[in-house]
Amino acid sequence: MIHIAVMGYGTVGSGVVEVFYKNRESIQRKIGNKPMDIKYILDLRDFPDSPYAGKMIKDFNIIADDPDIEIVAEVMGGLEPAFTFTKTCLERGKSVVTSNKELVAARGAELLEIARRNNVNFFFEASVGGGIPIIRPLHSSLAANEIDEIAGILNGTTNFILTKMIKEQMAFDDALALAQKLGYAERNPSADVDGHDACRKICILASLSFGNHIYPEFVHTEGIRNVTLEDVAYAENWGGVIKLIGRAKRSEEGGGIFAMVSPALISHDSQLSSVDDVFNGILVRGDATGDVVFYGKGAGKLPTASAVIADIVDAVKSTSTSKSLHWQDDGKNHVLDYRQQKGAFYLRMEGVEEGVQRARELFGEIRLLHRQGQPENEFAFVTPVLSESAMEEKSAELEKSGCRRIAMLRVLDY
Ligand code: HSE
Repeated sequence: MIHIAVMGYGTVGSGVVEVFYKNRESIQRKIGNKPMDIKYILDLRDFPDSPYAGKMIKDFNIIADDPDIEIVAEVMGGLEPAFTFTKTCLERGKSVVTSNKELVAARGAELLEIARRNNVNFFFEASVGGGIPIIRPLHSSLAANEIDEIAGILNGTTNFILTKMIKEQMAFDDALALAQKLGYAERNPSADVDGHDACRKICILASLSFGNHIYPEFVHTEGIRNVTLEDVAYAENWGGVIKLIGRAKRSEEGGGIFAMVSPALISHDSQLSSVDDVFNGILVRGDATGDVVFYGKGAGKLPTASAVIADIVDAVKSTSTSKSLHWQDDGKNHVLDYRQQKGAFYLRMEGVEEGVQRARELFGEIRLLHRQGQPENEFAFVTPVLSESAMEEKSAELEKSGCRRIAMLRVLDY
């Protein structure tokens, strides 16, 4: 019998238990008909009415000290005690699978190394993209490629909120409350709304793709709080939508990574533009494959549980540490200054009559945008391609002529 422990009985943990018992027979078939069961569920709360009350424990040491436990699903979230528990399990020869993106983004390289030393596995398919397979395809199916770039809608909650605001005119707070009710949002929804969750996810994908640990604190991150329906209307006039995009790219000159999380204009022609509601879409640009796009439910109890259980199945099947699933932490920052990155920009200004003319003088060939109800003293435009620092300089010059900048968004061409 293969014994599993589940640490955390929140949205994801209860989903793991539910999917495991619902599909137990077929899951066991996928591991060569070996019997498998959940022996413990660790949570500090009481669940007296749960059909699994007999498996509930509050003391982590019961799991750590039980040699029967081969695989542990860490679905508690947060850095501590998740890190200490995970490290202890790996050191005691137990494979760990996790949905905890904060843990992987902050300590992934270290935990992978501990797993390797102890000849067990540390898997984290559920940490990015919910139910979408992306970690395994990146390190195995796309192994022939140098990955040049990754860009994606990586946070279900913000995509859900933006979709509800744009398509149903739902107020921001109501859309967020609904996302929380549906189990999409983080315990502290600021992690979603301010872009930190998407940042952790792009860091995991970038670390795995580019081989060096990419730390979230070095990645410029903006959330969706300042996105307005006026900007949405200008984006529509331009021919696209506004999405929260996490992206990471090898610098063309070599020797560094450009990475950023921000709301951005995406053309209707892009596959990412039609990724709505809680869905995530992740575009991977390989040097042999070209663009490959992954799409599916990026958050929620059962989709995330599906990825956790897939990792459990793989952990049973792997006889030793998965050598290809790793990256190194050399203690250096590999993220380049985002202000050097080039692109086009959307600017919305409140301004003097001659503002448009001045914008043309400063930026060159701008494309003016329009919206219904546009006030007379407002103008919006898309710039030609230039570096972010050059755009900031020119935008400041424009403001000196009496205009005021209301909004700035990047324009991306995925
Ligand atoms: N809060 C996250 C999201 C959960 O909305 O995408 C899945 O990681």
